[in-house]
Amino acid sequence: MTSLKKLVAGNWKMHGLSSDLAEIRTIAEQARGYPQVDVALCVPSILIERAARAVPGFAIGGQDVHYAEKGAHTGCTSALMLLDAGAVLTIVGHSERRDAQRESDAEVKAKAESGLLVGLNVILCVGESLDLRECGKAVESVTGQLDRSLPGNLHGEAELAIAYEPIWAIGTGKIPTTGQIAEMHAAIRARLRECYGADGARVRVLYGGSVKASNAGEVFSITDVDGALVGGASLMAGDFIPIVAAAGAVEGAASIA
Ligand code: PGA
Repeated sequence: MTSLKKLVAGNWKMHGLSSDLAEIRTIAEQARGYPQVDVALCVPSILIERAARAVPGFAIGGQDVHYAEKGAHTGCTSALMLLDAGAVLTIVGHSERRDAQRESDAEVKAKAESGLLVGLNVILCVGESLDLRECGKAVESVTGQLDRSLPGNLHGEAELAIAYEPIWAIGTGKIPTTGQIAEMHAAIRARLRECYGADGARVRVLYGGSVKASNAGEVFSITDVDGALVGGASLMAGDFIPIVAAAGAVEGAASIA
């Protein structure tokens, strides 16, 4: 199978002020040295417009989107608003939101669909808790989450990516074994083929959870790992760009154009 061009996306979570635009500029400039990798930064919604203006041509994204087009949803941001502010992608269904905001799979699916509909690329997150991993139900729970949250179809230009992020690996420094990542990514890939047929092969499957420069090379060499969603290590160019470089160095990185 031809490998997909790797995507390395940073998730800045609730970090980022005007004073951080300089770091975003540095990341964007240094990322240009790796044209064989797609690089993006998902920043707080209030920073999107300033970030997008600061780094024209570099992919800036949101971290969440509301599923409704518009209306009485205090404090929420619609897909068109993200696009209007200069975002080209958005994360949906991050476990921190599924947990703290009690987002259901059905809501995550509707959010993904609302993003794709207006032309935003979407990174849809799934991942198991430590309990489910320890009782041998990780694959079953993640494929179940996917079945309930995958958007209905992939028509249109916007791209869907899946981020497999075991909850117990996020921000903990713990990372699954190579075998565990390979097994999960193969299961996700199989589900995508079942759901979307040939189009499923074009959906990138990212790994997320404690990715850093020291483990990125190993993660990117695993079959069916098409990139990474990076939290803490995406805040500084000095930590993030070596991860981009590791993705660029993986043999066979090829553009899906
Ligand atoms: P981390 O976060 O890289 O800090 O573990 C990943 C994420 O939550 O997307």
